[in-house]
Amino acid sequence: MPNLKATNPLPGASLVREAEPGDYRVLAKIHSSGFATGWTPEAIGNLTSGLGVTSLVLAGVGTGKIYGFLMARSVAGEGEILTIAIAPEHRQQGFGAQLLDATLGWFEKSAAGAIFLEVACDNRAAITLYRRFGFCEIGRRKGYTNGQDGAKQDALRMGLHLDQGRPEFARSGTSDSARD
Ligand SMILES: CC(C)(COP(=O)(O)OP(=O)(O)OC[C@H]1O[C@@H](n2cnc3c(N)ncnc32)[C@H](O)[C@@H]1OP(=O)(O)O)[C@@H](O)C(=O)NCCC(=O)NCCS
Repeated sequence: MPNLKATNPLPGASLVREAEPGDYRVLAKIHSSGFATGWTPEAIGNLTSGLGVTSLVLAGVGTGKIYGFLMARSVAGEGEILTIAIAPEHRQQGFGAQLLDATLGWFEKSAAGAIFLEVACDNRAAITLYRRFGFCEIGRRKGYTNGQDGAKQDALRMGLHLDQGRPEFARSGTSDSARD
């Protein structure tokens, strides 16, 4: 697959590409840094080979350094974000937004009209990121997921109607009740 996106002004040029088996060890390390129950390289490989699944990595141009990744599934016109994680030292630099933006482009190409995801209720960073891309809360599942401290948390189910057009990602300055 060609690179989905190769432009990013700060902090350096980066691109989004499909993950390769040689990446899985690094992806597992990044995943473990973001979740109480991290996925092994083998689990990432098995999930990535599932029907309609892709794992997209965001990497530095020239350096090849992987900043983060996102795993998504698109089946029968419906998309799901299975996970997203950015390495801790690279968070809050716009990489999560760049990855999500490229993934929405991938969903559009795969004709997914509606995108869904689940996120722990206490995950302010992720919920704010998703809201900024137009995702809305459509439900809640009690004790469904492990929070970042490992304790059982309610999960928010969020959805986005991609077939109604993709909202522009709004940078800081717009109103957002979830942001301190
Ligand atoms: C959630 C996560 C992927 C965000 O990645 P990131 O690269 O830090 O996000 P970005 O820098 O692209 O930020 C994009 C927007 O997200 C929001 N955001 C990111 N981090 C935030 C934080 N700590 N608090 C509040 N909002 C935050 C902001 O709205 C930000 O836009 P702005 O800077 O213009 O206001 C990252 O924090 C992460 O990997 N967390 C651990 C794994 C995880 O929780 N994944 C989500 C599971 S559903």
